[in-house]
Amino acid sequence: MSVTTGQARPPLPLVVLISRRGSNLKAILDAIQGGELNASVRAVISNNADAPGLEYARQNDIDTLALDAADYPGREAYDHALQGLIERFEPGLVVLAGFMRILSAPFVQHFRGRLINIHPSLLPAFRGLDTHRRAIEAGATEHGASVHLVSEELDGGPVIVQTKVPVLPEDSEEQLAERVLQQEHRLYPQAIQWIAEGRLRREGEELQFDGRPLNGPLQLDLA
Ligand code: GAR
Repeated sequence: MSVTTGQARPPLPLVVLISRRGSNLKAILDAIQGGELNASVRAVISNNADAPGLEYARQNDIDTLALDAADYPGREAYDHALQGLIERFEPGLVVLAGFMRILSAPFVQHFRGRLINIHPSLLPAFRGLDTHRRAIEAGATEHGASVHLVSEELDGGPVIVQTKVPVLPEDSEEQLAERVLQQEHRLYPQAIQWIAEGRLRREGEELQFDGRPLNGPLQLDLA
């Protein structure tokens, strides 16, 4: 008789959506390669055929696809096509990593609970663009990044985890952006790993971490 001591989970299949540089995609791939993240990237899809992140994915033998919004009559038609493309890869989780498009309600509803985003601010502060400049202009002393489940609202949906960085008096927008980005590269793989290992899960409308309701975002001290 053989004794089973518990089975390793299979890697969580991901589809990653990007629009530009793809440094968060690279951080996810590095974490997978380094054994810190039990996932596999099945495809990288972009709305921009020239996104540098697509080239990086190709170099890593990952399927890449570009879908140009100009080829579709409107947002819902585009999102419908995008949804079909994503589903071909049967992802357990759809990861927005700098995907700079507003998503239509049917798309968000279709992927509800398995669609996450990273945003460079301490949500709900500074939704939208130019978060670093706006944080400096507002005189914020703390800034950071958030990983959240995606809802119909722009940069909305329950925040899973955040990490904070200080805003220094002499910070330029670029310096602050770089400090936040360094933390994003650790935050996103960690959040995905929690989902991959089942520590973070959605029970009905409730988010749970280690079996307990998540009442507000986890704080990750990455310093
Ligand atoms: C990241 O800073 C990400 O948080 C942000 O775009 C950047 C993408 O960089 N996303 C948003 O602003 C979403 N609202 P990357 O292409 O190097 O990963």
